[in-house]
Amino acid sequence: MPTSSSAPNRTAEPCTVVIFGASGDLTKRKLVPALYNLYRDGLLPQGFSLVGFARRHKSNEQFREEMHEGAIAHSRAKPTDNDEWDAFASNIHYHTADFDNPEGYAGLHDLLGQIDESHGVPKGKGNRLFYLATPPDAYTRIITQLGAVGLNGPPPSQCADCGWTRIIIEKPFGRDLDSAHELNVHLLNVFDESQVYRIDHYLGKETVQNILTFRLGNSIFEPLWNRRYVDHVQILVAENIGVEGRGNYYDTAGAIRDMIQNHMLQLLALVAMEPPASFTANAVRNEKVKALQSVRPIRADEVGRYTVRGQYTDYRNESGVPAGSTTETYVALKLMIDNWRWSGVPFYLRTGKALPQRLTEVAIQFRQPPLMIFSHQDHEGHVGLADEMEPNVLILRIQPNEGISLRIGLKPPGSEMRLQPVDLGFHYGTSFGAEAPEAYERLLLDAILGDATLFIRRDEVEAAWSLVTPIMEGWTAGYAPKPSPYWPGSWGPDAADTLIAQDQRMWRTI
Ligand SMILES: NC(=O)c1ccc[n+]([C@@H]2O[C@H](COP(=O)([O-])OP(=O)(O)OC[C@H]3O[C@@H](n4cnc5c(N)ncnc54)[C@H](OP(=O)(O)O)[C@@H]3O)[C@@H](O)[C@H]2O)c1
Repeated sequence: MPTSSSAPNRTAEPCTVVIFGASGDLTKRKLVPALYNLYRDGLLPQGFSLVGFARRHKSNEQFREEMHEGAIAHSRAKPTDNDEWDAFASNIHYHTADFDNPEGYAGLHDLLGQIDESHGVPKGKGNRLFYLATPPDAYTRIITQLGAVGLNGPPPSQCADCGWTRIIIEKPFGRDLDSAHELNVHLLNVFDESQVYRIDHYLGKETVQNILTFRLGNSIFEPLWNRRYVDHVQILVAENIGVEGRGNYYDTAGAIRDMIQNHMLQLLALVAMEPPASFTANAVRNEKVKALQSVRPIRADEVGRYTVRGQYTDYRNESGVPAGSTTETYVALKLMIDNWRWSGVPFYLRTGKALPQRLTEVAIQFRQPPLMIFSHQDHEGHVGLADEMEPNVLILRIQPNEGISLRIGLKPPGSEMRLQPVDLGFHYGTSFGAEAPEAYERLLLDAILGDATLFIRRDEVEAAWSLVTPIMEGWTAGYAPKPSPYWPGSWGPDAADTLIAQDQRMWRTI
């Protein structure tokens, strides 16, 4: 989605990024490779520094070496030029401290002062971006300590010529509505909302941003984007892997927290929202919040009608998963949006692990056209509708094979006047030539630039939890059957087919 400040000359100011949890997986696999790519592309400012904060003792050199290995293994562009890597790495520091130790934060305060001084930045003018890449239970402790040592900085509204301070919070943001609300209250006691960047890396994906440009940048689609022309919408996030050694974490989350509350409701909001008045952060987020608030909540006692849970058959044998776990690894949902645009148009969401392939897509299925003119006679003389005809389907392919396709009906060669479905397609890889940046590159750069359009606002995260929390409560209260088993490599439990078949519809065949 284009953003207010996405004009070509977005220039970042000198700043220091501090990653809490810097010895963890996310930092090595995603964050440092993303920063390295930004550096290579000349998008990081002069005077950029990175400080890694974590518990394990390491020297700066050790940390740089580990980050180098991470970049070699995971970066979009491999660091083949040693001089270039060394120049980037010379601004990387490591600070050993426990999240609960106030001295660690006093030490961080001093280190940031020294870094500013080394770049000639006057006192009080240093810009800082804190990134909480930590276990979620550490968020409030770190936020408290940052406030206690005065590293929360004044919000821009209170000091126009001070350096800026921003904080990125990783997912999961809360476990339910109450805990998300509590975290928001705590966070906003220490930081101002204008300083807070709640991340959902799906929003950094080019294909996700293109949902809005596609809708609003092409005059032929928006007029069709409503209940008069759309029959229903299907959103699929399929993974072909299981929990891959993360059973401990996953069993406490399940598919609803891991996928639906964040990524899938974000996709739904982008498809369903009204056009914003402008592409500023607040205008876009206002419309997303309105879309989420228009989704009819599924009450706890309705979960048996509108939701299906599944669990792949090997799940309980995964390491870290308790023997009797009832955590869902698959969810299918039917959501209705009660507004003028979407009234009566179901949005079907399904996500699962151990499915046949890794695939994320949004499919907008248009209404069936009146087909009488394509009636044909079969060999026994029966006259019927052209049964080859499928309704038009617009598919926004988020990953992999990123692209967009439109299924239309055309007459195949021959003497018969009948219809056959064919796809009109656009493919990112071949059409744009250039490789798309990683989601974390875009999001880190936006946070450095102070553009919050692709981050989740407080009311947005709470609106999403308001939809998901009653569903979880209904499951806990036993208003729906326990997760149905499904075979790894299948498309999920039969009950999911029944959910959509009740509406005389089917899941898309992939
Ligand atoms: N990994 C991913 O691909 C991914 C994707 C999306 C979101 N996330 C989210 O990102 C966050 C981080 O994930 P991760 O996979 O990087 O986690 P991780 O590998 O478990 O790393 C956790 C980090 O926190 C540090 N830490 C924990 N307790 C500490 C303490 N008391 N004091 C100081 N440091 C402490 C650890 O330091 P030591 O090792 O030195 O103890 C380590 O650096 C999580 O919220 C996760 O949900 C991760």
